[in-house]
Amino acid sequence: MSYDFNLKTKDNHLIIGDLDANDLAEKYQTPLYVVDEQKIRENYNKLYSAFSSKYPKLHMCYASKANTALAVMKILNTEGSYIDAVSPGEIYTALTVGFKPEEIMFTGNNVTTEELEYAHKAGVKLNIDSVSALERLSTIEGTEGREISIRVNPMVEAGHHEHCITGGPKSKFGIREDEAVEVYQRAVDLGFKPIGMHSHIGSEILESEPFMLAVESMMNIAGKVHQEVGVDFKFLDFGGGFGIPYSPDEDELDLETFTTDIINLFKSKLEEYDMGEPYFFIEPGRFLVGNAAVILTRVNTVKQSYRKFVGVDCGFGTLLRPTMYGSYHHIVTANKMDEEDVEEIDIAGNLCESGDLFARDRPMPKLEEGDLLAILNAGAYAFTMASQYNSRPRPAEILVNKDQVDIIRRREEMSDIFHGQSIPTRLLK
Ligand code: LLP
Repeated sequence: MSYDFNLKTKDNHLIIGDLDANDLAEKYQTPLYVVDEQKIRENYNKLYSAFSSKYPKLHMCYASKANTALAVMKILNTEGSYIDAVSPGEIYTALTVGFKPEEIMFTGNNVTTEELEYAHKAGVKLNIDSVSALERLSTIEGTEGREISIRVNPMVEAGHHEHCITGGPKSKFGIREDEAVEVYQRAVDLGFKPIGMHSHIGSEILESEPFMLAVESMMNIAGKVHQEVGVDFKFLDFGGGFGIPYSPDEDELDLETFTTDIINLFKSKLEEYDMGEPYFFIEPGRFLVGNAAVILTRVNTVKQSYRKFVGVDCGFGTLLRPTMYGSYHHIVTANKMDEEDVEEIDIAGNLCESGDLFARDRPMPKLEEGDLLAILNAGAYAFTMASQYNSRPRPAEILVNKDQVDIIRRREEMSDIFHGQSIPTRLLK
């Protein structure tokens, strides 16, 4: 089966919401991130209802690292989402957007004592990643009796690239499964109130098997902690990682089967260990926002060298995933949507690095200078991983809601490149 990305077209043009991508590019210039509000809402509700119809005590903590645009986070806030934050900056952003502290889960990794203190004082849920952090948290004033959660490594590996595998023997995240009882006991001895357990095995997973293994493993760990330490879990958090199709060869996660299998397993384990009815937490990032944005970029150079290169007006400073992980992003020609692919070409960015390529040997229609390309699935890990490398200001971001459009992040200006810097006066003599 070939996945078609549910694109809307009209008169050979790509339509986003109810608007012509070519008009948006004309008006707001390129490169441009275009976010579709309705897609975010649809994604949220699709995932939420798939799980909650089988287990209503559900909270979805949006993994904000995927996209921290204030407007995007506000949309998820209005849908009732919780937040997964991994740094004080993400906590600050979530609070600014209007999330309540108790709706924010802080899962830091290699955090300083100051960062723990910031999170503690902000009143957010704390998910502890190491014994060191646990010990240091106990030295912070006012943490006596504090509710905490602990991240475990369920020894299941999954993810689209080595860099995105967060479980298993090589992973830096969480505590060992065989030390969980001891660490939870230590938490109790230090005066904490453990109420949660967390795991996250990796990102961009399109099969249910690794999730099933992770749920089974974490439930066995939690069951043991419940029985041996007497911890009454208020929530069990299974992290994110739900994949989306990036290439036409991939299929969507079969949500109905997937959620039925996961929740059945979860419930049977709750029963096996007599753990009552804790909340089921998940932390989707990519699934909620990944397909909700495209990057519009203009072809400015067509060059026949030893290969044929089509050069566009942005590079890996705008979308790092292809360069960093070799990720496939589907690319369509927003002004030639009905045209057949006629040749295989390389689509190259505008940065001075050979790795700055969006695609190699990609079948495309006949491309000319001035054509408008839309790089799909640029809603997750796109702007949040963007940079000004080569001193290129970062693009603007607009939000489309049906026929409405708003600028949610202005295009950076040249002076933004050296924002915050100064030359010592002694060098100016
Ligand atoms: N929870 C935790 C603790 C995480 O570390 C992550 C992602 C998530 C949730 C959300 O994962 P998602 O549902 O979005 O797969 N930059 C990479 C992805 C890195 C993900 C890191 N952690 C990429 O562009 O593919």
